[in-house]
Amino acid sequence: MSTLITNVGELVTNAAPGDEPGRGPGSFAALTGAALIIDDGRVAWTGPAGQAPAADEVVDCEGRAVLPGFVDSHAHLVFAGERSAEFAARMAGRPYRAGGIRSTVAATRAAPDEVLRANLARLTREMLVQGTTTLECKSGYGLTGPDEARAVALAAEVTPEVTFLGAHVVPPEYEGDRAGYLDLVCGPMLSACAPHARWVDVFCERGAFDADEAAAVLAAGRAAGLLPRVHANQLGPGPGVQVAVAAGAASADHCTYLSDADVDALASSGTVATLLPGVEFSTRQPYPDARRLLAAGVTVALATDCNPGSCFTSSMPLCVALAVREMRMTTQEAVWAATAGGARALRRTDVGHLGVGARADLILLDGPSHAYLAYRPGVPLVRAVWRAGQRVTAPVLDDGQ
Ligand code: NIG
Ligand code: FE
Repeated sequence: MSTLITNVGELVTNAAPGDEPGRGPGSFAALTGAALIIDDGRVAWTGPAGQAPAADEVVDCEGRAVLPGFVDSHAHLVFAGERSAEFAARMAGRPYRAGGIRSTVAATRAAPDEVLRANLARLTREMLVQGTTTLECKSGYGLTGPDEARAVALAAEVTPEVTFLGAHVVPPEYEGDRAGYLDLVCGPMLSACAPHARWVDVFCERGAFDADEAAAVLAAGRAAGLLPRVHANQLGPGPGVQVAVAAGAASADHCTYLSDADVDALASSGTVATLLPGVEFSTRQPYPDARRLLAAGVTVALATDCNPGSCFTSSMPLCVALAVREMRMTTQEAVWAATAGGARALRRTDVGHLGVGARADLILLDGPSHAYLAYRPGVPLVRAVWRAGQRVTAPVLDDGQ
């Protein structure tokens, strides 16, 4: 079954026309007056609409824009409860502290599997209808061997990009015994989680884990076959980015407080800087300096960090709008970072672009250009989504086309 998506006002490909299969995302690139063929769940052809080959089914986009599906490379979706009171207090002047994580840990431990699974399903559905076709999902609200193993197993039901985050914070029962908790994380907890996970993450921050502790967690994860990524430099300056780069992490996430040495380290490494502007929006912190990173040649990704504490949005369109408005990224840079950048942060070459051979993950936007994501902030512009060539109809603005 093949599908011709035609009359596309702007087709954002992040790839050169006729790009060979498997080359992976390049830099922002778009075709106008374009068409795309989906065949067997993959992009089979892109080019001028007038030259498109025939297909079994035709979708006329009437001049609207088509983009690669968003790649949300940072989310914490396995949890129970909510923290709106903490958010309201923060907006009334109380600062964000990592300690709020513990209240979600208590609620998550107490929740039956079905509650966690239903919450996860609701959030992943929310993401999908807003255009997210690839998502990463972390554990980190269980913090016992069985609770973390349960979290990664549930996450693995919705995505292959599962991250073990036993090193989120030291749970209350290990207060005063950090070494004991680290032994658990790097020992039995890791063994229970590794079969379900691809990644290992650590919250390297004052109040969470220091440089040596973080490096130990990443090394143990690597020995168990997991690839490293790091929560780094979110709440203040610190060693997180250096730990991430030294470990060869795929991504250092947050990057809100960076020294020149941190920027240099990122620029001369394969570690992506994943910026999470929804967090700064929701915690009223200063935004990361995206322009400084881009000027230094760092690869920048955008992700939501969807979690019940520091940022409870599942919306990549919001993150794109914030990146443009608040972090002075161009609309092209922001869309690239939310698609191809996320793919780089997950070391994926099959998503984040629409080159020939890519997985057919597409967003049909209700607007003629990718810029509408920032130009019309807060508006549900994602009209339709295809994931691996299967259309997922957005409930909003669906006129049956
Ligand atoms: O990425 N930084 C650590 N973890 C989350 C916050 C989790 C929470 O507050 O519950 C984050 O911001
Ligand atoms: Fe996070």
